[in-house]
Amino acid sequence: MLIKRRSSHHPTEQDVTPEAVYQDRRLILKGLGLGAATLAFPTQAGVLDLFSADKPTLGATTRPLNIHAATRPEGVIITPEEKATTHNNFYELGTDKGDPARNAHYLKPEPWQLRVEGEVAKPFTLDVWDLINKSTLEERIYRLRCVEAWSMVLPWSGISLAELIRRAEPNSRAKFVAFETLYDPEQLPGQASRSLGGGIDYPYVEGLRIDEAMNPLSFLAMGLYGKTLPAQNGAPIRLVVPWKYGFKSIKSIVSIRLVEERPPTTWNLLASNEYGFYANVNPQVDHPRWSQASERFIGEGGIFGAKRQPTLMFNGYADEVASLYQGMDLRKWY
Ligand code: MTE
Repeated sequence: MLIKRRSSHHPTEQDVTPEAVYQDRRLILKGLGLGAATLAFPTQAGVLDLFSADKPTLGATTRPLNIHAATRPEGVIITPEEKATTHNNFYELGTDKGDPARNAHYLKPEPWQLRVEGEVAKPFTLDVWDLINKSTLEERIYRLRCVEAWSMVLPWSGISLAELIRRAEPNSRAKFVAFETLYDPEQLPGQASRSLGGGIDYPYVEGLRIDEAMNPLSFLAMGLYGKTLPAQNGAPIRLVVPWKYGFKSIKSIVSIRLVEERPPTTWNLLASNEYGFYANVNPQVDHPRWSQASERFIGEGGIFGAKRQPTLMFNGYADEVASLYQGMDLRKWY
């Protein structure tokens, strides 16, 4: 098999991320005996080389949305669209930051059905495009903080998660909410084997406590920059929980299930000593192998110019969410 190498001008994860962090998820691959160079996706034509030096594209097509635009907060730099759509974590579309954009064409986000089910009086299946086409979506500008110590500020459009959950009428046994990404190795080729998808057992799963899910900040995004979500950002519908590390914000969701017990979550299953269930952004609690005290903000300067800034408690949303965790020891990785 022919493996092309990146050209030297091509930005890599190392350019934006401290080396210890960069090594982290690669270590998981190594532990499985899988070098990144062995990763390649099958295509109808043969093999797609994930390490092509081509510049990542903006991925699958997007179209303008009907939204209530948010007021741009003064003095806040919004991450440029080109950065937010070419520097992604979506392991089902490849494990390097530019892979999801390059491989976005695999995912067919339309049509798309989302189930809301479990401990509810009125389970339902939602036609996501019906919702997108018939609604005026709300725009929210949120910080996104990845556990790898980089951050962005992004303009999402969508609806509050609570609004959707309420429609299903949860019963008294609904203590947690479990989310699941589409499972279809044809559309998400990283799911074809553990070696292709970074050692993860798919589908990608996530969860929240019910009061976290019902918090007004919890958001289901169907758009970014006033347009439908690009595939690499989790089309057509993804979770956004801005006070938690980015891995909680699960992409391309097909199921939201209200459950009684705390559900399993993907990164916690993979390395429970490093990735907790709660995963609240906390500058005082270091990842076991790197500091979380500061982060690289990806803004106008882009990937190469990313400057360091202090990490904020709950990613700056303490006023809205700190009360959810009263009595819990926040120094622990829950
Ligand atoms: N959801 C799925 N299904 N698969 C993934 O690999 N990566 C997570 C999260 N959601 C991921 C996912 C991680 S680690 C982060 S930081 C965010 O998506 C990144 O979102 P973005 O690419 O839109 O910035």
